[in-house]
Amino acid sequence: MADLMNKIVSLCKRRGFIYPGSEIYGGLANTWDYGPLGVELKNNLKNNWWQTFIQKREDLFGLDGGILLNPKIWETSGHTTGFIDVLVECKSCHCRFRTDSLKEATKCPDCGGELTKPKKFVPMFKTFIGPVEKEAMLAYLRPETAQAIFVNFKNIIDSFHPQLPFGIGQIGKAFRNEITLGNFIFRSLEFEQMEIEYFVLKKDWEKSFEEWKKLMEKWMTDLGVAKKNLRWRPHGKDELSHYSERTEDLEYKFPFGFKELFGLAYRTDFDLKQHAEASGVDLTYQDQKTNKKFYPQVVEPSFGVERALLVALIDAYHEEKDKQGVRVLLSLNPHLSPYKVAVFPLLANKPDLVKEAKKVYMLLQPDFATTWDDRGNIGKRYYSQDEIGTFLGCTVDFQTLEDQTVTLRNRETMKQIRVKISDLKKTIQKILEGEEFLKFGKLVK
Ligand code: GAP
Repeated sequence: MADLMNKIVSLCKRRGFIYPGSEIYGGLANTWDYGPLGVELKNNLKNNWWQTFIQKREDLFGLDGGILLNPKIWETSGHTTGFIDVLVECKSCHCRFRTDSLKEATKCPDCGGELTKPKKFVPMFKTFIGPVEKEAMLAYLRPETAQAIFVNFKNIIDSFHPQLPFGIGQIGKAFRNEITLGNFIFRSLEFEQMEIEYFVLKKDWEKSFEEWKKLMEKWMTDLGVAKKNLRWRPHGKDELSHYSERTEDLEYKFPFGFKELFGLAYRTDFDLKQHAEASGVDLTYQDQKTNKKFYPQVVEPSFGVERALLVALIDAYHEEKDKQGVRVLLSLNPHLSPYKVAVFPLLANKPDLVKEAKKVYMLLQPDFATTWDDRGNIGKRYYSQDEIGTFLGCTVDFQTLEDQTVTLRNRETMKQIRVKISDLKKTIQKILEGEEFLKFGKLVK
């Protein structure tokens, strides 16, 4: 299984999905840069999430709050005192470890050295606003997007007058000075969250919690992730965050074991109450029928972008033995694929074919994420596109010059159909929308 992780890391680097951060300077541990294909995959994931949970729902409002917030917010939310890691340091090699990651170990797992006593550590990055680095100008890079939502609760109510239940969702960067790192992009210093704070009546929080469990899992399985690789794990009492009365993690079977993919927390009315008390601003909700004012309860589904992306890659990775050796294929849901279509001239040294293929490329490019490939022979090009998850291969050959048809090849089945250029856009649209998809070939799952 470690082998699978190595293969994915190597594919990501080689094919331009994910590069180690600051690489030419020897890197910066646990930071990553997203290459041309990685950024497409990431954007496709985020867009899909935004459409599913914000745009297609009447009860959800979008927000894009700041990364830098008034530092009082982090005191009030309990992060400066309650968002804590406990770490020990090896006296010989100075590696640091979270005590919960060491389990029973009393010596350094790396070199066997003696460990220091546990120390508390707030994993929020500090910075200073203005030219003078003094405490009064201290600010934090946000460790979760959620707080920007709570402090905008009143703004949204005043502008939109929503009725309970309703939610506010946001996608954005979060930063954590993590001690335990590794496993590629699974845990990094800088990452993105897609979070929803869903406001409900107290009597409804458990129902809402169960509904969100289903929706979170469904989002993954709709994108093609195998259900057998997902499971829910409730947090023990000693594990709960300072704001939570109940949390469950949606775990995925990563090559390094079942680990948290997303989290779902019942945050009660903790955050709204705390901010109302500290700011002096009324953050209650007024029932439009009874005029009663109260703090709504909060159910929080929190999704990590990088973890979703890693799961999409791991779950999609397949190898198939054939006559030429091994065909590597990323069985990505076509909606996530960085490219939907690749256009090839059958032979790159025949100007007529290249010219015709360029026309087809120009035809498709405005409507579909399309790539051009004329390197090596056609078989190699198909395999090269399979490895990055391109869903369709469109080849312009000698027959095209005679009858204006091209072949469309499906990545999953390698089945080919002949399509008129005049019908090409419509056919691809239908395939991507799923109408022709089942006839033409199913995702390997
Ligand atoms: N607002 C709640 C919250 O932040 P969390 O469980 O600490 O809860 C939510 O984080 C999600 O953010 C996780 O389930 C995971 O997907 C992602 N996440 C957290 N820390 C991360 C890190 N260091 N690197 C990558 N993703 C991370």
